Amino acid sequence: MTTDPSAVDRYIVDRLLSLNERQQATLDANHAARLPAIDVSAPQGKFLNLLASAIGARRILEIGALGGYSTIWLARALPEGGRVVTIEFEPRHAEVARANIAREALADKVELRVGAALDILPQLEAEGGAPFDLSFIDADKANNAAYFNWALKLSRPGALIVVDNVVREGAVADPAARDDGGLGARRLFDAVAAEPRVAATAIQTVGSKGWDGFLIARVTQ
Ligand code: DHB
Ligand code: MG
Repeated sequence: MTTDPSAVDRYIVDRLLSLNERQQATLDANHAARLPAIDVSAPQGKFLNLLASAIGARRILEIGALGGYSTIWLARALPEGGRVVTIEFEPRHAEVARANIAREALADKVELRVGAALDILPQLEAEGGAPFDLSFIDADKANNAAYFNWALKLSRPGALIVVDNVVREGAVADPAARDDGGLGARRLFDAVAAEPRVAATAIQTVGSKGWDGFLIARVTQ
């Protein structure tokens, strides 16, 4: 029996994900551009895609596009006329994301905004667009609680908010955690625990990205 979670991820991809779904061209482009290889895994990308289609999401907010790998998974779940608004801090990452999204013929479904999310989120509020059905937060971990509060503010009742990297090899459960990941995750959990307008859980994950997890919250009012 294998004891390698990456081998299991490869098996999952091999059995359950079509060649087209795997987005190899996007992964290759990200690698060539030397983007950090911290995209969601392919099985996780498909999980996000299935969540979005299960709730019939038409408007999706993503905080942290990187090279657009998760953006593409989310955009592929949208019906005609649906939209992902995705925010990326690094102009160089955004440029790679834009090219990947265009190659997948999804440019008309993705609105990519470049800058600090904490600057752009208030702009989205001021613009008064329709609320989001699903938010995916996967950016700098220190700001996760603030991103969660913004996603909540911009969500409709019944919407889902998903946050990546909330376990960080167990650091979330360590009261002495001092790194951005562990502290950011603990502050996020504090914010969610104190928020009566959501029902939430977190699911630990293991695979090609090591031991981590997703927080999933449903906006109840
Ligand atoms: C890191 C960031 C991520 O979003 C992730 O999924 C894995 C690692 C990081 O900054 O190390
Ligand atoms: Mg992540």
